[in-house]
Amino acid sequence: MIFNRRNFLRSASVLAAFSLNEMQALAAKHHISGGGKIIADDDEAYWSTVRQLFPLSREWTYLNNGTFGPSPYPVIETMRNAQMDADQFGNYGGYESSMPKIAKFVGVDDTEIALTHNVTEGINLACWGVPLKKGDEVIVTTHEHVGNMMPWMNRQKVHGIVVKKYTPGHTADETLSRINALINKNTRVIATPHIPCTQGQVLPVKDICKLARDKGIFSLIDGAHGAGMMPLDLHDMGCDTYASCCHKWMLGPKGTGFLYVRKEMQDTIQAFYMGGGTDDGKWDLMTDPVTIGGYAPSAHRYFGGTQANGLFAGVNASIDFIETIGIENIHNRIKSLGKYTQDSLLEFGKKIELLTPTEERSRCAVNGFRIQGVDYHKFFETCSAQKVRIRAVPENGLNCLRVSTHIYNNKQDVDKLMGLIKKAIS
Ligand SMILES: Cc1ncc(COP(=O)(O)O)c(C=O)c1O
Repeated sequence: MIFNRRNFLRSASVLAAFSLNEMQALAAKHHISGGGKIIADDDEAYWSTVRQLFPLSREWTYLNNGTFGPSPYPVIETMRNAQMDADQFGNYGGYESSMPKIAKFVGVDDTEIALTHNVTEGINLACWGVPLKKGDEVIVTTHEHVGNMMPWMNRQKVHGIVVKKYTPGHTADETLSRINALINKNTRVIATPHIPCTQGQVLPVKDICKLARDKGIFSLIDGAHGAGMMPLDLHDMGCDTYASCCHKWMLGPKGTGFLYVRKEMQDTIQAFYMGGGTDDGKWDLMTDPVTIGGYAPSAHRYFGGTQANGLFAGVNASIDFIETIGIENIHNRIKSLGKYTQDSLLEFGKKIELLTPTEERSRCAVNGFRIQGVDYHKFFETCSAQKVRIRAVPENGLNCLRVSTHIYNNKQDVDKLMGLIKKAIS
């Protein structure tokens, strides 16, 4: 098969036949198979081949991976095939393979991963499972997504805990000292984003988790923007729990996610939803009184019942896709596009307020900014009218704009946005 976009898109049967193996063959042919090889972040020929693996419309310039990551063909195709298997042959199950697959991807044990629908669900499972009483304090940032704000606020409403907040600093050290200043004898939880949805600064989560562990404080990381953006080793990070999704930086099916719960914390974080898969098999309804049995000796205690097999087959394919290219290669490419975005914004001088730190360890693929004298929402609408998709950030009065780039983007995409900024300023 000659691999070019026109014949690729023209034929549905080509799409239907396009499997991961074929993708790997193509990858090798076009030298895109990672296979441990280092691929330069500016190897435009390589990255433009990668770009062709996405059905993403070329009519739009998509700079909004922070909201959701479009899937490439092999993921879509795997999902479709798995769904057909279920619907044609009545195959049941299959999602079980996603737990070890995700576990390996994020550097933890198979028994430490619960499957979820999204980040919000993972955060809620952890938030409601942590034993907290009236007056106990939880530290969050002023840059929270509602998914890591409302669960804690709800516990404040229901249980009288106290939600405290800090604004992330411009450097990792500043952030750490602000957290330190909030810790007191009542602090029970630090619930922080790995990378806030607002301005995309990478927070020093390993240091935060160490700080928490040393003081006996429970740590929850909102990892919406972690998995797929950079290599993860959650054991090394030292968090108690990490909630992420497969539908953003992992480029997987929408409505899939996972929650990591450190083995030693599973008997502390209470599981509340019970059903098929959450138990240790020792229950018996026919004894009198009934035999309750115990929880599954794994994070499976946090989710039960029928799972979306087709979607989780797609999750497995998204991990294969990422590993075909190499997560280090992906991280380097998107970090360099993030730097290109920062440099381009900084060229406007005082007309632009770049909100994301330029510090090496605090930046990656998401940037936040304001345009002097231009209403952020009006500019967002201008972008939409010109078919450039970015995100407006009204959260907590931040009133700014966010641009995020993934492997299907290139410098020309960023330049298109810069052209619109130039017009808005002049
Ligand atoms: C930082 C952060 N946390 C949580 C969420 C919620 O994610 P989900 O929609 O997967 O629940 C998002 C979504 O954009 C996010 O950016």
